[in-house]
Amino acid sequence: MDIKKVHEEKLNQRAICIWFTGLSGSGKSTLAVALQQKLLLENKITQYLDGDLLRNSLNKNLGFSEEDRTENIRRVAEVSKLFLDCGIICINAFISPTHQIRDLAKSIIGEKRFVEIYLNTSIEACEKRDPKGLYLKARNGELKNFTGIDSIFEQPQNPSLIIDTEILSINQSVAMIYNYILTKIH
Ligand code: ADX
Repeated sequence: MDIKKVHEEKLNQRAICIWFTGLSGSGKSTLAVALQQKLLLENKITQYLDGDLLRNSLNKNLGFSEEDRTENIRRVAEVSKLFLDCGIICINAFISPTHQIRDLAKSIIGEKRFVEIYLNTSIEACEKRDPKGLYLKARNGELKNFTGIDSIFEQPQNPSLIIDTEILSINQSVAMIYNYILTKIH
């Protein structure tokens, strides 16, 4: 018996991982939460995993070196896989800054159930928004290895979807994502 399939049938959904990547302040968490709300209205059961949340719990011991970021994403991908095997849709919001890190996540989760959504919000826009005041700290040298300032962000080359949050509203962005995943979750 394929227990994952049984779970999916009971939940009336197919489990995929919707993985948001982009700079800090690009809108990952905002869109992830809005998408979760939208899916809940459609009676879809999801788990939302987020960098800021997990870095205060499971990944408390990790910093922002490339090695630690890789370990952060490895653990998140493994945890996501457990949820996916229960038939639960995962919505993940992590900077996941390099090709290698995103490839690692994809290989753990499995290409077929991995949807990569790139928020291509420019560093200028993120820095202007600066919701947590972190860009200011990074510019002042109070925060080291900050993504986009003194730590690399490699633009995804072949994401499933690119969302331009500088042009689209939250509702428009969620609608685009929802339309994209519609046939994958049913
Ligand atoms: S990732 O690179 O390992 O994928 P993750 O998404 O978990 O990063 O965490 C990013 C969040 O950590 C940011 O949104 C920000 O709030 C916080 N943060 C603290 N220090 C840094 C830093 N040096 N670089 C990036 N984000 C940081």
